[in-house]
Amino acid sequence: MNKLLVANWKMNKNTLECIEFFNEFNSKYSAKRDAWVSPQAIHLSLAIHEGAKKNVKCGSQNASDHTSGAYTGELSPKNLKELGAHFTLLGHSERRQYFNETSKLLNSKVKTALQEGLKVIYCVGETLPERESNQTLSIVGDQIHQGLNDITDAHEDNLIVAYEPVWAIGTGKTASPTQAQQVHAFIRAELKKKFPSFGDKVRLLYGGSVKPDNVEELLGQKDIDGGLVGGASLKAKDFLALCGDK
Ligand code: 13P
Repeated sequence: MNKLLVANWKMNKNTLECIEFFNEFNSKYSAKRDAWVSPQAIHLSLAIHEGAKKNVKCGSQNASDHTSGAYTGELSPKNLKELGAHFTLLGHSERRQYFNETSKLLNSKVKTALQEGLKVIYCVGETLPERESNQTLSIVGDQIHQGLNDITDAHEDNLIVAYEPVWAIGTGKTASPTQAQQVHAFIRAELKKKFPSFGDKVRLLYGGSVKPDNVEELLGQKDIDGGLVGGASLKAKDFLALCGDK
């Protein structure tokens, strides 16, 4: 399967900047690697339209665990799907940290999004104090087990897991390929135990200061199937380089 690079634009870019990105990206993207983009929800419709010109799939950065109703400010996974969204990120560390999303709530969001036919990129990762106190694997293991409970084989093609060590996000500090591979191998083993029929097929993305100059080494690791990229996805030129189009 192709490597997958997912741009997480977070709360960045105005409308014109979105259009400029796609104009430049689409002119050079050769689909050597799969490229997905996750803009702010207000730009999703535009991104879906522009991305479709080069089969670049777009998705949201969050989705509700409800499909409709009195949930002011939330994003319905049902309506995201209807709009043409391909996927949603769930459980990004910024959602866990600033919006108090727990793995229990995220389990509900993951199941609802999958039921509505969205692919889910479920994010996990430890903080620096957790890493320094040797808790990385237990924290990541808990996030996997709690967040991915009760997922059936019917969704085997739609689940993706992203490992993003919180200390590597936006800091310029990347996990070394060996550090990243070690956690990815652990996640792979846990997924195989949890989902014997499809755990070995789930795409595993690494996120945290992925840049053109470190991407090849990271993607060269056995259990790293792609990257979830913040800062370096904002410039079309850099995201092209990550996608193998220099
Ligand atoms: P950076 O690539 O800016 O470190 O962000 C990573 C991230 O949070 C992607 O979801």
